[in-house]
Amino acid sequence: MKNKIIAGNWKMNKTRAEAEALITELIPLVADTPNTVIICVPFTDLCKAVKLTRGTNIHVGAQNCHWKESGAFTGEIAPSMLKELGVEYVVIGHSERRTYFGETDATVLARTKAALNADLKPIVCIGETLAERQSGKMEEVLTRQIIEGFEDVTAEELQRVIVAYEPVWAIGTGVTATDEQANDAIKFVRGIFARNYGQDVADALYIQYGGSMNDGNAKGLLAMSDVDGGLIGGASLVATKFAAIVHAHE
Ligand code: 13P
Repeated sequence: MKNKIIAGNWKMNKTRAEAEALITELIPLVADTPNTVIICVPFTDLCKAVKLTRGTNIHVGAQNCHWKESGAFTGEIAPSMLKELGVEYVVIGHSERRTYFGETDATVLARTKAALNADLKPIVCIGETLAERQSGKMEEVLTRQIIEGFEDVTAEELQRVIVAYEPVWAIGTGVTATDEQANDAIKFVRGIFARNYGQDVADALYIQYGGSMNDGNAKGLLAMSDVDGGLIGGASLVATKFAAIVHAHE
């Protein structure tokens, strides 16, 4: 059995002062877990988060990075800039970026490759919308996101990637996928990776569930055979709730 990887995605929340308070409260609450704990914080909180978590079991991630190492890309952050700060992970292709900022499978791939080249570990998000699920297109959408979004990611590189299956209809809505829905979708996703990379690589790949995961439903979701962890939004903003998710399956 793999240990779980529990990542908080703070999205656009927490000032530096608020981040300090949250991280300080969180450190002792998760210190003794066998699971991997990651917090993906806003760019402005990264320095503070890296400094506060040094010597603890909490890893720090960013929420996006650009595909170029430098240049005229106003408002973007290069992977090497994150690496220099001591950041280890980076969320790529979150559905909010796909919806509001024009992220496509091609840009997801470019950002993922750049992150890998800078020795960051990408947390790559995929997932279908409600309309896509209701019209029977879930498998088609997930297949496209994986085929196009991982096109030239090698098997060696995939070992440093985490995939987050986040059905868009479950994000921030309070509607969670059932344990079975999450597991079935992740099984399907793993099957595509198995076809492309072989069963061993697919079995070793960490695939998280994300979408209204909280301290009440985490135990059931994380007990499912294919759910290797969680990517948590709202509930990661409260130390006690996030810690309860971290400890939900040990
Ligand atoms: P919520 O947990 O707030 O639904 O957000 C999930 C998510 O988008 C994590 O990336």
